[in-house]
Amino acid sequence: MRRICAAAVVAGMTILLTLSAWKNHTYLSKTEVEPEYVFSYAENQPEDYPTTLGAKYFAELVEERTNGRIRILVQPVGVLGSENKVIKQMQYGGIDFARVSLAQLAEYIPSLNVLQMPYLYTDSDHMWRVLDGEIGDAFLESVSADDVIGLSWYDAGARNFYNSVKPVTCLEDLKGMRIRVQESDLAVDMVEALGATAIPIAYGDVYASLERQVVDGAENNWPSYEAMRHYEVAKYYTVDEHSRVPEMQICSAYTWQKLSPEDREIILECARESAIYEREVWTQREEQSRSIAMENGTKVVELSAEEKNGSRMPCTGYMKNTAGMTWDSSKKS
Ligand code: GCU
Repeated sequence: MRRICAAAVVAGMTILLTLSAWKNHTYLSKTEVEPEYVFSYAENQPEDYPTTLGAKYFAELVEERTNGRIRILVQPVGVLGSENKVIKQMQYGGIDFARVSLAQLAEYIPSLNVLQMPYLYTDSDHMWRVLDGEIGDAFLESVSADDVIGLSWYDAGARNFYNSVKPVTCLEDLKGMRIRVQESDLAVDMVEALGATAIPIAYGDVYASLERQVVDGAENNWPSYEAMRHYEVAKYYTVDEHSRVPEMQICSAYTWQKLSPEDREIILECARESAIYEREVWTQREEQSRSIAMENGTKVVELSAEEKNGSRMPCTGYMKNTAGMTWDSSKKS
């Protein structure tokens, strides 16, 4: 009961926030038509971040192709809550759309962990061959059997370790360090397997945790490290590319049910097009972010190709279970 009340309060707040943003014309409409639907879209990255730009492009395409009948209000910077809370809200229909990290979604749909195992992909092309092919489609569909609908894959590059203490020149150097990880069992397991202490913290709180030395370090891609200004509080960045954790655009099943088959098709098509755009922006931003961080004093250690292949990563606990999982796409579990 308490969960339902809390969900109702947050859903109410979301509607109010969405309506007030709309009323105040924070998001200008391109059309003069009164929309039939006004939907919320949660994004935890800043305004100019590739995934946010992708979301805005998605919203524009949807509005254009429905002649203004469907308006999607993108709310960036995590104003609708942490990814974990956003996914919970979507299960109750409190938030309509979001872009989330697979690490977070896999906490609800564990089969997704298979796609973000450390050192799973040799490089970005390898990951996209998997996600753009039959396997990626089957996983998008499998998500749709739950309380959310999988729309498209967004890029989030490779994740690397960084810290405020010392240059990390090999994975063994992480032993004994306190490392922030995503709120994900797989991420905890990966960091503990390296002999470090994993501390799960929501993305929006990482800067403060590094600054107050609650953690010694964290791990993320170049754009997140730069956009969230983590370089100010953790200047040693080691390019080890231990994982590639893609992002997914999702829609609440409650929202999906309201839409006609034609509108669903338009939304899927716009999501896919926005994903192509996001990936282009992503590639440019990765380069830029690296340069910005280095201009601001980041000290970079680049591990050798051999060190990046994962041969030094023990496969334990949760990772072992995940690696041993068999997945039957026909069950869509
Ligand atoms: C990436 C991802 C975020 C996620 C973050 C994290 O930056 O884009 O959605 O929250 O990783 O480390 O938590």
